[in-house]
Amino acid sequence: MDITHSPEWQALLAHREQVKHRHLRDFFAADPERFSHLALRHNDFLADFSKQRVSQETVALLVALARAAEVESWRDRLFAGEAINFSEHRAVLHPALRFLGPGPFPTATDNVMPQVRQVRQHMRDFSERVRSGLWRGFSGEAIRNVVNLGIGGSDLGPKMAAKALSAYEHPGLHVHFVSNLDGAQLAPLLETLDPRSTLFIVASKTFTTQETLRNAQTAREWLLASAGEENREAVIARHFVGVTAATEEAGRFGIPQENLFAMWDWVGGRYSLWSAVGLALVLTIGMTQFERLLTGAQAMDKHFLETPLERNLPVLMGLLGIWNTNFLGAETLAILPYNESLRALPAYLQQLEMESNGKTISRTGSPLGCQPNPIVWGEIGINGQHAFFQLLHQGGWLIPSDFIISATSDYPLPGHNGPLLANCLAQSAALAFGRTEGEARADLEGEGRQEAEIQALLPYKVFAGNQPSTTLVLPRLDPYHLGLLLALYEHKVFVQGVVWGINSFDQWGVELGKKLARRLQPALEGHPDDSLDASTRGLIAYCRRYGQL
Ligand code: F6P
Repeated sequence: MDITHSPEWQALLAHREQVKHRHLRDFFAADPERFSHLALRHNDFLADFSKQRVSQETVALLVALARAAEVESWRDRLFAGEAINFSEHRAVLHPALRFLGPGPFPTATDNVMPQVRQVRQHMRDFSERVRSGLWRGFSGEAIRNVVNLGIGGSDLGPKMAAKALSAYEHPGLHVHFVSNLDGAQLAPLLETLDPRSTLFIVASKTFTTQETLRNAQTAREWLLASAGEENREAVIARHFVGVTAATEEAGRFGIPQENLFAMWDWVGGRYSLWSAVGLALVLTIGMTQFERLLTGAQAMDKHFLETPLERNLPVLMGLLGIWNTNFLGAETLAILPYNESLRALPAYLQQLEMESNGKTISRTGSPLGCQPNPIVWGEIGINGQHAFFQLLHQGGWLIPSDFIISATSDYPLPGHNGPLLANCLAQSAALAFGRTEGEARADLEGEGRQEAEIQALLPYKVFAGNQPSTTLVLPRLDPYHLGLLLALYEHKVFVQGVVWGINSFDQWGVELGKKLARRLQPALEGHPDDSLDASTRGLIAYCRRYGQL
């Protein structure tokens, strides 16, 4: 059923007419206990939804919508290992990757845990050998640099988490991430590395991704060129490991089976940080800390599974996003971490959200009755203040934001964290409440301005406010709380996909461009293709004239 035809959706449309002009100032004035009603805790993690443009009635209607969309039964189907990614006939079992209990998962008869635990053990053994210096390169040197070659889900998760947890990194082991086909990423990095002490992880679920394979081939040539007369296979075996579900392909590339870390078709790329795709992260923070990350994510799984929808963090976060997008008309969502270590989070969440729910065809193959996922974007909040926040405050667009802070700094320099947090809280308050003409006038009068000047400046000094936001507060940015935060977003995306009626776990929309790129390659190399459109032919001719291809 198209959810937009449901009585619950219609009830929300009617309710929207009553509240759409209410200002956040009014919501707060009407309910002095608003924060305690709408800021929810999961132990020491806080999600403050009070600056969303909702009343308690709105939340109740949204929860009714979730029930109508059968969020609970879809959630249970996910955790039961049903093939809910039906277009690819796959189960969606990333929760198994962070299942740390002793028993089977998802069920005794369909238990994936033996393979998961085997790979975890492999990751532990391997990472301990590398981190302790026991694993040696072809010339006997210990490994000092690790380069993860991967893209999309095989890059964004471990890269984001390695940056987020840099306070935990091994002092003598540096991890780097190369995703771009543009040699401008790999070439300068290789110049800084010593092949004798460099380990490459080729991370690709399919082992067919052009960007990753090209980078891996270049890295292999670079390594072998410096190894001289050494046995090629033995050299590759000391310096290349693979993370993949396509072990035969990886073998053909030359990576020995014992250097391969398996993943499975029931792990989506953008949900794979918890799998061996996290190997680069494990090498930098160690398996014990990685398991803390898994523990945090598992805690969120449990919360998602067991908490009534009314207090369920991912459910509420997902529903509030739907309210903003489908009822208030927001077209984007800004991710604004006030934490330098979370600088790669916006890019990670872009893939998670937009590759999962950037779709307009429903699970039943018909067009959706509403616009689903908003455009997700973001930046470190404090930097954004000096760049694009002007538009958030006075640009006239409705732009919901997620502010993310850590109450304790992971790099505590005296005098830094207090002002940082003050800035974040000030921005979310300014966006929510704005500044009225009366307040602006009082400010100008307080500055001793003359009436004529006040009249001239007044229009510029008014802030409309009423921009909705959620503030997520981590007590500190450690592996546990990072795991909790990421799983919160994963389940939020799932909830939204269920309500919109989308299969959140396929990504057919990425195929066309890949296919076309393969077709254009010969034309760029000088084999004209008249079947191409005029713009593409013109651009190819230009590139051939001025470039070296
Ligand atoms: O092109 C999109 C995509 O398929 C993502 O879903 C995936 O995370 C990425 O490419 C990388 O894929 P692979 O791990 O198979 O190289």
